[in-house]
Amino acid sequence: MLASGSGSNLQALIDNQADFRIVVVLSDRPGCRALERAEAAGIPVSVCPWPGDRARFTSAICDRVVAAGAEAMVLAGFMRILGPEAIQRFPGRIVNIHPSLLPAFPGAHAVEAALEQGVKVTGVTVHFVDEEVDHGPIIAQVPVGVRSDDDRASLHARLQAEEHRLLPAVVAGLARGEIEVRGRRVDWRPD
Ligand code: GRF
Repeated sequence: MLASGSGSNLQALIDNQADFRIVVVLSDRPGCRALERAEAAGIPVSVCPWPGDRARFTSAICDRVVAAGAEAMVLAGFMRILGPEAIQRFPGRIVNIHPSLLPAFPGAHAVEAALEQGVKVTGVTVHFVDEEVDHGPIIAQVPVGVRSDDDRASLHARLQAEEHRLLPAVVAGLARGEIEVRGRRVDWRPD
């Protein structure tokens, strides 16, 4: 699990470990709340500060993931972009959660962008990671209505409530082998 921020999605995963187990939490930000949550749950943590070079950073992250015995990577609020080595070493085994209905509003300011555009519906997406930002094959999405009095905080809170249900469900589906990728299409066949 890779996180840079508050780690509320990490918490949702911690609270729903049945079909999967979090073996390590990696972060580029020492002291972030996500690391505190992992430590509180007794999960090993590893800090990998940004070395100023994407290829080196990606190698270090991949090596630590392998050393921890992880089979997949889950990114939630991880504010660094991984290089091609990660996709080569973990093909179809890296997922990310994003607070919009991709391909709308990729990037770091998805909630603000949805408000600025005045969309009536936004949502959350869990997708496989490929070499472009917020771009890989979409596994699952949940729509969230935008209210006329929403601000960033109120909309993000409702998006996060959906994230906290969707991400553990997808990770469990992956762990059970229910999710298959064919090009850009992803089939999720629950048992
Ligand atoms: C989430 O809204 C996620 O979609 C975005 O960053 C946020 C991370 O939140 N990529 P948290 O650290 O899991 O609380």
